[in-house]
Amino acid sequence: MPYTVQGVVARGKGEPVSLETVHVPDPGPGEAVVNIQACGVCHTDLHYREGGINDEFPFLLGHEAAGIVEAVGEGVTDVAPGDYVILNWRAVCGQCRACRRGRPWYCFSTHNATQRMTLEDGTPLSPALGIGAFIEKTLVAAGQCTKVDPAAPATAAGLLGCGVMAGIGAAINTGGVTRGDSVAVIGVGGVGGAAVHGAHLAGATKIIAVDIDDRKLAWAKEFGATHTVNSRESDPVEAIRELTGGDGADVVIEAVGRPETYRQAFYARDLAGTVVLVGVPTPEMTIELPLLDVFGRGGSLKSSWYGDCLPSRDFPLLIDLYLQGRLNLDGFVSETIGLGDVEEAFAKMHRGEVLRSVVVL
Ligand code: APR
Ligand code: ZN
Ligand code: ZN
Repeated sequence: MPYTVQGVVARGKGEPVSLETVHVPDPGPGEAVVNIQACGVCHTDLHYREGGINDEFPFLLGHEAAGIVEAVGEGVTDVAPGDYVILNWRAVCGQCRACRRGRPWYCFSTHNATQRMTLEDGTPLSPALGIGAFIEKTLVAAGQCTKVDPAAPATAAGLLGCGVMAGIGAAINTGGVTRGDSVAVIGVGGVGGAAVHGAHLAGATKIIAVDIDDRKLAWAKEFGATHTVNSRESDPVEAIRELTGGDGADVVIEAVGRPETYRQAFYARDLAGTVVLVGVPTPEMTIELPLLDVFGRGGSLKSSWYGDCLPSRDFPLLIDLYLQGRLNLDGFVSETIGLGDVEEAFAKMHRGEVLRSVVVL
C-alpha cells in the first residue's frame, strides 16, 4: 500500500517552506522506502528553495538522513526491511567509466528512485539530491541505503549523509592527510569543522582553523584544531606560513566556496602541497592566478565531491569510529528540531549560529 505522510516542501522560488501531505509509492524494482528518524539541515536545501540549483519546483527538501528500511522492491538484496541505514546521494552504478576503472567514488552515473513522490493533487515532487528526507517516509534507490551499526543514534549517523562526510572526506580521501602533516582549513562551519576533525583523525600534527567568526573557531578547537586564525583580524596566508615555520601547510582545505578564500588556500600551501576545494562556488565566480605560480609551486589542486566518499566503505567505518569514541559526530549537532522548524533553522544557519540543526521524527 502506498503511504500518505507529511513532508517539508519548497513550492516556489524564495517562498518559505511548508509542511505538505505527500504520497509515497510502494517501492518498485530496485527501490526502497525508508522510515526517516533524523535529517540534518544543509545549505543545499536552502539553495533549492532559493531556486539556486534548478527550477524544478516543488522540491521535497532534506538529504542528510538516517532511518530504518520499511519496504523494498523487487530484486533488492543488499538491504531488507528493519535495516538501519544512512542515506547517500551517490548510489554508484558499477558500470560507468569511473566504476569500471575501480574508482567508484567518482561514479559519473549515480542513480535515484525511478518513481516519483507526489503532492495530494498528483504534482510530482523533486527530491533534494534525489533523497527528500524531511518527511516521515521517503522513496530512494536501494543503493542509496548504506547499512550501519544501529547502536549509533540517527541524529549523529545522518550527518554522514552529506556535510560531515564531505568535510572528513575532503581531508582524508581527497587531501590524503596523514600522520605528521600540517593542515589548514579555511572556513570552519559544518563542512570545514569536519575537515578539521578528519585531519585530526588521520594524525595531522598541526591543524590550523581559519574563519571570520570566533564561535566557529572555538568549535574547531573541540574538533582538534591546534591553532586558530580569525582572518578578519590577521592575514590568513601570513598567519598560516608563520605557524608552519615560514613554509605553508602540506594540505589546505577551502570550505567556503569563494574566490578570495581559494586564493588564500593556494598561497598558504607549502611547495608541492595540496589544495582541496570542498566549498561550493556559484556560477558567476571566477579566479585569476599567475600561471607561473600554478606551475612553480607544484603539488596538486583538487576538488572534493561529497568528500570523494564511497558510502559502502566509509559510512560503516566512520560509525564504528564514532561508537569507539574516536569520532565526535555529536559535536556537530547544535540543536534538534521538528519538521515544522526547518524555515527557522535556515535563518539560524544564515546567521551562523549553528553547525547543524537536525530534524528528529
Ligand atoms: N574567510 C573565512 N571563513 C569564512 C569566510 C571568509 N571570507 N566567509 C565565510 N566564512 C566561514 C563562515 O563564518 C562559516 O563558519 O565559512 C563557514 C561556512 O560554514 P557554514 O556556513 O556552516 O557552511 P558549511 O555547511 O560548512 O558549508 C561550507 O561547503 O558544502 C559546501 O555549499 C557548502 O559552500 C558551502 C561550504
Ligand atoms: Zn558508475
Ligand atoms: Zn548537503
